[in-house]
Amino acid sequence: MSADKRIGIAGLGTVGSQVAARLLSGAVPGAVLTAVSARDASRDRGVDLSGQRFVSNPQDLASADDVDVVVELMGGEGGVALDLVQAALKAGKPVVTANKAMLAAHADSLSEASCGSPRVPLAFEAAVAGGIPVIKAVREGMAGNEISRLSGILNGTCNYILSRMEVAKLGFEEALKEAQDKGFAEADPFLDVSGTDAAQKLTILSALAFDVAPDMAHVSLTGIEQISAQDISFADGFDSVIRLVAMAEHRGAQGVFHQVVPMLVKKNTTLAQVSNELNALKIEAEPVGSIFLQGPGAGGGATASAVLGDISDIVQGFGRALFRAPTSGMKESATQNAPDSEYYVRLALADKPGSMAKATQILAENGVSIEEVVQRSSQAGDSFLPVVFITHHCEISALRAAVGALEAQKDICNEVLALPVFTEEM
Ligand code: HSE
Repeated sequence: MSADKRIGIAGLGTVGSQVAARLLSGAVPGAVLTAVSARDASRDRGVDLSGQRFVSNPQDLASADDVDVVVELMGGEGGVALDLVQAALKAGKPVVTANKAMLAAHADSLSEASCGSPRVPLAFEAAVAGGIPVIKAVREGMAGNEISRLSGILNGTCNYILSRMEVAKLGFEEALKEAQDKGFAEADPFLDVSGTDAAQKLTILSALAFDVAPDMAHVSLTGIEQISAQDISFADGFDSVIRLVAMAEHRGAQGVFHQVVPMLVKKNTTLAQVSNELNALKIEAEPVGSIFLQGPGAGGGATASAVLGDISDIVQGFGRALFRAPTSGMKESATQNAPDSEYYVRLALADKPGSMAKATQILAENGVSIEEVVQRSSQAGDSFLPVVFITHHCEISALRAAVGALEAQKDICNEVLALPVFTEEM
């Protein structure tokens, strides 16, 4: 029987405290918590850490004689977290992290340190989709398959905000505040609502599924900041909800297309049932077909669960390097166009003769055909009315040209928002 692995945790927030508590209760046989590091040693975290060595400089965990495995839960794209992880890998110590921002931004140097020789485990299940073991599913469970597409919901905060706006009729800010209070949101919630967090996770998954080096610059990215209560209400009228959907699709010789965008999703689809902080991932592959995974994607418990699973793997000798190879040996992602789609186009249209005719003419001139149109009546005194067009399938280039032309007609319309319509076949 080999000796217990001694664990050092840097970061004792919602996730770190729960991981510490579970380790102390013996939840992971073969793992013993020896050292912890946090900004404030004295804060009550609901767990008795008096028997663990407190390290004021997290960097010291990398060189500590009583630490075999470093668990980085401080967060942040670079700085102290990156320094610690680099130092631990250099010292040959396996690392567990939940830090998707760091992995996405520093995949090159981290993959060099982890995937070179000797290989040093760098486990990151907690970085993507919280408690759903998507890394294991894609990398291990589906090894030997050819994955053609990944799609789903990878940000719990955005999904929570959109769900609460829909079900409880909350405003955007109110729903975001709830998500923050529940511990779902990033320290800087812009990372969530801008779609950046979901894009970081998507690039990490894509590296495993398609052997493509993470590259945020090649993700077509739109956040949920522009989604209003009015859009949620219009979507309901089309028997749909709005979800922030992440998608990576292998397009043969053209490369891999990456997109994170709010979409109109029919209520009778599986994706529409994914509510609140839940995440979901559909993996399409041969020969298995299609797999759909769903579960808690944000919050202390979900993330701690994934961290503990990684610690268990390392303790049992199943730790893996960051990727198959350093990113220098992986493919580059390519900038590509979004697939043809139906679109939800919402705008404010001047309440005067001919403005609707002008708007439909602009769509027609750009080759965008209308499938449905809804115009809401005005409140007293409104000079602009909310209008939504659902278009037939069209190319993104046609849609963009039409939106540009509509936006240029400031006297008849403004506040143009276009969202693709999700279908199960996407
Ligand atoms: N802020 C993230 C989310 C937490 O809302 O999904 C999990 O990564």
